[in-house]
Amino acid sequence: MSDRERIKIVIDGKEVETYRGTLIIKAAEDAGIYIPRLCYHEGLRPDGNCRMCLVEIEGERKPVPSCMTPVRDGMVIKTDTEELRKHRRAVLEFILTTHPMDCPICDQAGECTLQDYYFTYDLEESRWREDKVRKPKRVHWGKNLIYDAERCILCTRCVRFLNDVIKTRELGVFERGVHSYIGLFDGKKIENDYSGNLVDICPVGAITDLDFRFKSRVWFLQRTPSICPFCARGCNIEIHTNTSRIRNRFSKQRVFRIKPRKNMEVNKWWICDEGRYSYTFIDNDRIEKPIWRGKEITWDEVSSRIMEIAGKDVRIYLSAWMTNEELVYWKNLTRTLQWRVSLVARPDGDDDNILRVSDKNPNRKGAEILGIKEERGKEEVAIVFHFVPEEISNHKIKIGVFSNKFEGMEQFDLILPCVTFAEKAGSWTNLEGRIQEFQKALEPLGESMEEGAIGEFISSTLGLSMVWDPGKFREEFEREYKKWNG
Ligand code: SF4
Ligand code: SF4
Ligand code: FES
Repeated sequence: MSDRERIKIVIDGKEVETYRGTLIIKAAEDAGIYIPRLCYHEGLRPDGNCRMCLVEIEGERKPVPSCMTPVRDGMVIKTDTEELRKHRRAVLEFILTTHPMDCPICDQAGECTLQDYYFTYDLEESRWREDKVRKPKRVHWGKNLIYDAERCILCTRCVRFLNDVIKTRELGVFERGVHSYIGLFDGKKIENDYSGNLVDICPVGAITDLDFRFKSRVWFLQRTPSICPFCARGCNIEIHTNTSRIRNRFSKQRVFRIKPRKNMEVNKWWICDEGRYSYTFIDNDRIEKPIWRGKEITWDEVSSRIMEIAGKDVRIYLSAWMTNEELVYWKNLTRTLQWRVSLVARPDGDDDNILRVSDKNPNRKGAEILGIKEERGKEEVAIVFHFVPEEISNHKIKIGVFSNKFEGMEQFDLILPCVTFAEKAGSWTNLEGRIQEFQKALEPLGESMEEGAIGEFISSTLGLSMVWDPGKFREEFEREYKKWNG
């Protein structure tokens, strides 16, 4: 019989339809019933080592681990009886006999499964009077990861992730019993392109991220849904920011970390390390004011410089990092001004069979849908967004719209400061043609403006008054998308 056969079961008195072969823990979750778990993670092969997920099944003598037991037709399951709560308290008490209780200085505090379960199921004073077993607390596992063996609950999620998902197999379980720990195999370090996911899947603070360690308590972070811009996969992410508190040496830092946002159609539970750790450009080396030939100027002075290009031959290089809405707006504006339009993009890079793709731009597909091509020309004026085309020297007057300083920016006569993706809302179309929206996490830095607002500024300077209305241009993009999609 096929595993895809629909069957009926009863969980906590609620009739639930699911597929034959689904694990109880998953069938319950799909029905809105949460079963506690420590070693189970939906994206990993189940291991059944923690016993936190025990449930009772009518007709069975003993509770069973719901992360290892598939549903059968007509099964009647209980997930929250007094007996099960007693089991859960026992599991927690056992783990806590060797746990260091570092909560006040642990980065995981506030989002730690063990801490949360203690408050949900335990809340007992410790009966443990012996010394706790001491283990190494700051083991460097590779570029970003620090392992604390005392905090480790030996759930093996990290081992299974590296063995089964990334297949780099750096970690194993060493020693036995209370002395067990997770260790690197001889000569190995965790340097793979997905290492940061280990911090997310560790249910406790045993794996911490060098990049985030001791920088902010997690409850001070605001979480904004967004999309990673670093390749055309378009992984769903959250940007975690903290702008509300006075900080000392981190006073300029607004973004503290990037986390994956589950999307089973795009990135499942993961993101790559480039997407996770490349956020520092949002706060650092920003261009905050317009610049004319090396000197900062006002936006009024920008108007006079823009007037000087009226009537000249212009090629505008829109970028594969601009949103669908911005591309539509700028395409319409350039048509009215009779400027030529091309696409410029970040060069291709590495890919793999996990998430990363060679196209290192979030919206080349959106540009393709709008028919914006990577052509080049020799017009007198070039207006360039985000990336410098190789043929820039073909143009006499060079205007750039950039968010960050870079080597070679001096060749531009006029530079207009634009925002980063974290400081605006919009949508990109990923390599599969999926339109994905992202939200604004931060206010623009300095005098930087959204690319659409820069367009409105230029259009009003040239007497056109074409208003930047993202909602309207989104609708226009969707019409073009429908035509492209047949
Ligand atoms: S380091 Fe974290 S994920 Fe790995 S076994 Fe220990 S608790 Fe589990
Ligand atoms: S795979 Fe691509 S989109 Fe996903 S996190 Fe990495 S760079 Fe970003
Ligand atoms: S979550 Fe099922 S045994 Fe650990």
